[in-house]
Amino acid sequence: MAGQALIAGATGLVGFELLRFLLEADYHRVVAPVRKKLPYQREKLIELRLQKTYEETLAEETGPFADAFCCLGTTIKTAGSRERFAQVDLNLPLEFARAAQRLGGRRFFIVTAMGADKNSSIFYNRTKGELEEELSKLNFQELHIFRPSLLLGQRQEFRLGERLAGSLLSELSLVFQGPLKKYKPIQARSVARAMLVAASRGSSTSPTIYRSDIIARMAEEASA
Ligand SMILES: NC(=O)c1ccc[n+]([C@@H]2O[C@H](COP(=O)([O-])OP(=O)(O)OC[C@H]3O[C@@H](n4cnc5c(N)ncnc54)[C@H](OP(=O)(O)O)[C@@H]3O)[C@@H](O)[C@H]2O)c1
Repeated sequence: MAGQALIAGATGLVGFELLRFLLEADYHRVVAPVRKKLPYQREKLIELRLQKTYEETLAEETGPFADAFCCLGTTIKTAGSRERFAQVDLNLPLEFARAAQRLGGRRFFIVTAMGADKNSSIFYNRTKGELEEELSKLNFQELHIFRPSLLLGQRQEFRLGERLAGSLLSELSLVFQGPLKKYKPIQARSVARAMLVAASRGSSTSPTIYRSDIIARMAEEASA
């Protein structure tokens, strides 16, 4: 887990937590292309203003970046249409993955979502499933896919549906037992922590898919 790491979506709920973990980890340089300014600077943090493409943004970088982490995403409501949503949740992560690969990326870690399925009749789940499928074709040495349930955390953007669902479901924690465990809402920080755990463990199979309850357990064990 030494060397340089790349992260896309570092200003997001999961991405911001992950950025902190990456900076505390053994990477000697962490490169974060972002649209908005990050609230702090660190010696080993290289903040790059996102250009038209990741390729263009990373043009001056020579790598190698063995590990790349992707926490990009939006909502259909914020994006304004299904097409724009797919641009951010499908095309952009793929573009980032290809750019990372050209810079030596051997391991790719991505947050998709519970229910990701390229054959789903639900557009959101289908988009996430298509992304997973396309990423698998890139033949990273290791592809780690994290499929969290509803994310909890302090979000700057107000998302009424998610907030209501988050508080309601958090009250119902006793319901999420046994086979229902994977539906339990999860802290964004736990997802980020599990991504780092996966990076330090590595994997001999690819892709490795992490269900939400597994993510929660990995995070719990790491913080115990
Ligand atoms: N919300 C949930 O409950 C939930 C549940 C399961 C899975 N997920 C998935 O988990 C992942 C992480 O979710 P999150 O809630 O942490 O995401 P988030 O807070 O919405 O952050 C998304 C990140 O993507 C960036 N981004 C969005 N549109 C972009 C664009 N057009 N160009 C460049 N960057 C762009 C954002 O940058 P800016 O800060 O500049 O906007 C931000 O860094 C997403 O793929 C999401 O679909 C979410």
